[in-house]
Amino acid sequence: MRPCILLFCTLLLSAHTNAQQELTSDALDSLVTEMGMEMSDAERTAILSSIKSAREISRVAQQHNDGPYRRDAHAKATGCLRAEFEINGDIPAEFQHSVFAEPGRSYQSWIRYSNGDMLVQPDGKGDARGMAIKLVGATGTSIAPELGATATQDFIMTNTPAFFNRNIHDYAENITHLAKQDRTGWFIGLWPPRLNLTEMLRARQTISSTIDTPLGERYFSMLPYRLGDTELKFSARPCPGARYTVTVDQSKPDFLTAQMAETLASDSACFDFMVQPRVAEGDMPLDDATVIWDEAESPFIPIARIHIPPQTFTSDAQQAFCENLSMNPWHGVGEWQPLGSLNRARRVVYHAVSEFRHRQNDAPQVTPTDWCIPDSDTPCSPQQGLNIRKPTWPLPRCFDPAFKPITGEVRDSRCDREGYFTEYSAR
Ligand code: HEM
Repeated sequence: MRPCILLFCTLLLSAHTNAQQELTSDALDSLVTEMGMEMSDAERTAILSSIKSAREISRVAQQHNDGPYRRDAHAKATGCLRAEFEINGDIPAEFQHSVFAEPGRSYQSWIRYSNGDMLVQPDGKGDARGMAIKLVGATGTSIAPELGATATQDFIMTNTPAFFNRNIHDYAENITHLAKQDRTGWFIGLWPPRLNLTEMLRARQTISSTIDTPLGERYFSMLPYRLGDTELKFSARPCPGARYTVTVDQSKPDFLTAQMAETLASDSACFDFMVQPRVAEGDMPLDDATVIWDEAESPFIPIARIHIPPQTFTSDAQQAFCENLSMNPWHGVGEWQPLGSLNRARRVVYHAVSEFRHRQNDAPQVTPTDWCIPDSDTPCSPQQGLNIRKPTWPLPRCFDPAFKPITGEVRDSRCDREGYFTEYSAR
């Protein structure tokens, strides 16, 4: 076992095996050194405190949630879908790094849509909505080797453009209140006198979103990253022309899953994946996640297309796979780097929490390498859960009139409802 992995295990064990045991600052120091990260003492203290609070939140949440031990955040999945992530043929040269190095390259991907709360709640309740994308078969050197050998690239977003804390220091204080079941105490308080107005507004925006379908939302990274030499934020926006009709009863607790299942029974869905480069003259801080980078100063530029073909995704095996998936902003390859103190904290926290819940559930850590569900009893067929009788590769595209393959070829795009359903559906 490599030393850094050993250290990681020590850290995680000390963090989680016993409620009396605390994660030691020595273990964190060693880990941070092994990872080669630059981190101040104050930042380390904030991370230790965040992990401690997160553990308390999990403990309480678990008393309310049914079923397996869930994620600390984004506990409820509304669906895990198969998708193609295709790099645009005309991607500007400065973005051709990491998984974007090859114009026209297509990656099989998994998308986990989620509700943000730590509790599993009815879909109609206001909440942040998550979209976490995992590209499989990524090539290049892993940016965080302690996370394992299989190369994947994750893009983790929610449907609000800004976070409710500026940095890890504010976050650590805020989550201490949350761990005491005090959801407002950090934002407003009499003693010590406290009024964090911008943050309160952001938090309100975050938790008040009600939606018709996860396929119709726009999602944001909120935090910055570096791709090649460019600092940027990223976002996924439904493709022009994508319209999703409401067809299910929205009073049902899991209507978002039902709505996506109904839409994807015969139709496909599509997102533009875009980046917003940081410009020096703008108000675009790297360590204040409450600031929305102005799109007038730096517009988002589409660099890839996410195509979600018609499919069935609600089997028990697929839901269990989804529960056991680990998304992490530090799953990445090549010239890609998450930036800012919140992102540095996520490198430690996401892995710790993922290891913990897998151990609690006695579930293996599996990383998919394609659209097949690893270790499933059902063998992976060429159809791989798609609602298409004969998958022809590349797949036809829907809601995607602007799609231009790099070869310039005109692709079969029989994407009107009739076309997909009658010509391709297995039913
Ligand atoms: C500000 C930008 C952030 C975004 C866009 C974001 C978004 C998300 C999303 C979408 C998920 C669900 C991932 C999945 O489907 O598996 C998630 C999980 C999680 N997030 Fe965040 N998050 C952010 C910041 C943070 C921070 C600062 C922390 C704590 C330091 C944090 C802690 C967690 C944890 C512990 C999980 C569960 C991980 C697991 O069990 O696998 N998040 N986040």
